[in-house]
Amino acid sequence: MSDVVDLRSDTVTRPSAAMRRAMAEAVVGDDVYDEDATVLALQEEAAGLTGFPAALFVPSGTMGNLIAVWLHARRGTEVVVEAGSHVYNSELAAMSGIAGVLPRVLAGHRGFPDPAAVAQACEPKAYYYAPVTLVLLENTHNQAGGAVLPMDHKAALLAAAKRHGVPVHLDGARVVNAAAALGLPTAQVVAGFDSCGFCLSKGLGAPAGSLLCGSTELIAEARIVRKRLGGGMRQVGVLAAAGRVALRDNLPRLADDHVRAKRLAEGLVGVAGLTVDPASVETNMVIAALDPPGDATAWLDRLRRAGVLAGPSGPGRIRFVTHLDVDDAGIERAVAAVRSL
Ligand SMILES: Cc1ncc(COP(=O)(O)O)c(C=O)c1O
Repeated sequence: MSDVVDLRSDTVTRPSAAMRRAMAEAVVGDDVYDEDATVLALQEEAAGLTGFPAALFVPSGTMGNLIAVWLHARRGTEVVVEAGSHVYNSELAAMSGIAGVLPRVLAGHRGFPDPAAVAQACEPKAYYYAPVTLVLLENTHNQAGGAVLPMDHKAALLAAAKRHGVPVHLDGARVVNAAAALGLPTAQVVAGFDSCGFCLSKGLGAPAGSLLCGSTELIAEARIVRKRLGGGMRQVGVLAAAGRVALRDNLPRLADDHVRAKRLAEGLVGVAGLTVDPASVETNMVIAALDPPGDATAWLDRLRRAGVLAGPSGPGRIRFVTHLDVDDAGIERAVAAVRSL
């Protein structure tokens, strides 16, 4: 086994033996014809988990967000996003380039905008201003270091948009982490949103795939848009099988990743040149600010030479992400390596 501790992202996990077995043995069919029993079972489980009537297996979180924007928002209108959001920063401007909308960017605190600012953005305007036709939120918030949207803040944000009849989509790539951190069922965490996506390929450890969840009507439309975007897949039950194992075996383990992230953060306190606040660690991410501020690349190189892989996270910051493939011993090794620099 390599001694390198890879904490760049929770997307680096490799499928478990149980997943590989399930993939090999999956009952499959042509999913474009809706005949893949394993995909249908996964979609049902995802709907059950999130409390939405229906769900659609999509190749990625990015495609799930794009389909949601396409369906909820009208071309030539605005979509409210938060400044650090993944959809705004890391999805190649797909909402503009493909769905034809303009992002209306609001500042956030730990990734979540102020409900008053959302209400103001959603207010009806004179006809010569583009209206807002969707609000898009992210929970947990990646760039904010896995921050969890508090339930009362969620309620206020939903109320602000709904007051003006504007739907709200949740980029819930890691909403299962939020649920684990809050100690609440995922369905309660996503209740009130008009649609929600979540990823199997992040903390849940599957090799690929996300679920877009919503009303039966929305998901029927989503299936058409997925095909139009080139995301109609055939015997994709081989991937859905891994996703089902992820939900069965790995969903209950997310809280362990959170404990390890906290332990990592505590272990990094006092390392010269890094500022880490363990109190800010709510889920599986640890942000370290460079002190004094500087170029993260040099730090990432130093860490790599010491056997620890981390990732950049905005100017002057690096990020460590815990996941299924790093156990307690791995975290101890990472802490020791960083402290020895
Ligand atoms: C918050 C968030 N949303 C969406 C995505 C996109 O997911 P994917 O890489 O499956 O397209 C990511 C990926 O890291 C993410 O962190």
